[in-house]
Amino acid sequence: MKYLAVLGRLSDISLAELTAQFGESVKKIAPNLAVFESNKTININRFGGTLKFGKLISENPVDYLLNLNTSDGAFSGKFVIGVSDYSKGARKFKSQGEALKIKKILARQGRSARVLQNNDAALSTATSHHNQMGEKDGHVEFLKVGKEWYVLIGVQNITAYKNRDQARPARDAKVGMLPPKLAQILINLCGPLPEGSRILDPFCGTGVVLQEALLDGYTAYGTDLSDRMIEYSEKNLEWLTEKENSSFAVAQGPATAKNLFLLSVGDATNFSWDKKIDAVACETYLGAPMSQPPVEIKLKEQKQECKSIILGFLKNISGQIDSRTPLALAVPAWLRPNGHYERLNILDEIKDMGYNVLKLNHLSQEDMLYFREGQIVAREIIVLRKR
Ligand SMILES: C[S@@+](CC[C@H](N)C(=O)[O-])C[C@H]1O[C@@H](n2cnc3c(N)ncnc32)[C@H](O)[C@@H]1O
Repeated sequence: MKYLAVLGRLSDISLAELTAQFGESVKKIAPNLAVFESNKTININRFGGTLKFGKLISENPVDYLLNLNTSDGAFSGKFVIGVSDYSKGARKFKSQGEALKIKKILARQGRSARVLQNNDAALSTATSHHNQMGEKDGHVEFLKVGKEWYVLIGVQNITAYKNRDQARPARDAKVGMLPPKLAQILINLCGPLPEGSRILDPFCGTGVVLQEALLDGYTAYGTDLSDRMIEYSEKNLEWLTEKENSSFAVAQGPATAKNLFLLSVGDATNFSWDKKIDAVACETYLGAPMSQPPVEIKLKEQKQECKSIILGFLKNISGQIDSRTPLALAVPAWLRPNGHYERLNILDEIKDMGYNVLKLNHLSQEDMLYFREGQIVAREIIVLRKR
């Protein structure tokens, strides 16, 4: 099955996420688009880097709609349709025109349809999400790229991300706010893993990565230097487990808080993890929070501290994980007055410790920066495999 992905703002990181999950068939076809082949079921809610997924259709859009089935048989109600044109040079009026053309042909067949208004050549993520495109029976969005037509199978659930981030009971602005989307990206960068695999976050803080690991059907193992953070993670994971329990898919028996996650206070540079670790996904220590680019001496001190904790952790864990274990790390990079980010530059040391640094889809390490415009401490994503 051929799929189309509309990539998020940091499209190279999104491309890496898809490549880690779907392999080398993933090809970037435009700055914000990728196509790939897969026979897996794709759930957009698990991909932090993708805005929309579409599935290639072989028939024309009208026939697709007329053959549309629901769980109760053929769909006979009123359609809500949208056309998002992602072709090069696409224009709003043209994609709107395509949608109106479909409406007209449907009318000739005695079927009615409401066309969503485009503000652009493509419907925005918010419009698609709020109109439940691809979700509610008869709500169909077509994604057009050149001569190919795809049907939307999922759009980023903006509401669910916001709720997950803001409704959890224990939050702490000082340890930074890892966006749940980035947590998902880190987990996905570890590659496809069997259900129930144990994901370790050795700098778990308030538990954002662990929450996403549970929602992915994995089990979570979190450690952190601070006992306060472990308490926060515990509160958040208990909250999530109560809220979502029935949806967790865990290989080992019924899902209870006890067998879903494990938390412990521990220094990542010398801790002995006593359960088998299948993958490591974490945002490491990022240094002090900053509201302005640091002065040279402060930057040097911060870099040194972060470097020693991160390398200390990788050295410590290397004897505790099997060969081929994947690790995806978000490490700090600092904005300089010239507008560039200064990185830790620790890849050589990491390689010398027995890890391979992965280059997904031939992306260079330079492309793996996650930041908002003007953010002082950005995150550089490093994907490793234990040799
Ligand atoms: C940037 S925060 C991670 C936040 C986390 N992603 C979350 O969801 O809240 C870094 C965390 O690393 C912890 N930390 C700092 N040094 C550590 C060490 N040597 N070993 C383990 N944890 C450490 C801090 O207590 C903090 O919770």
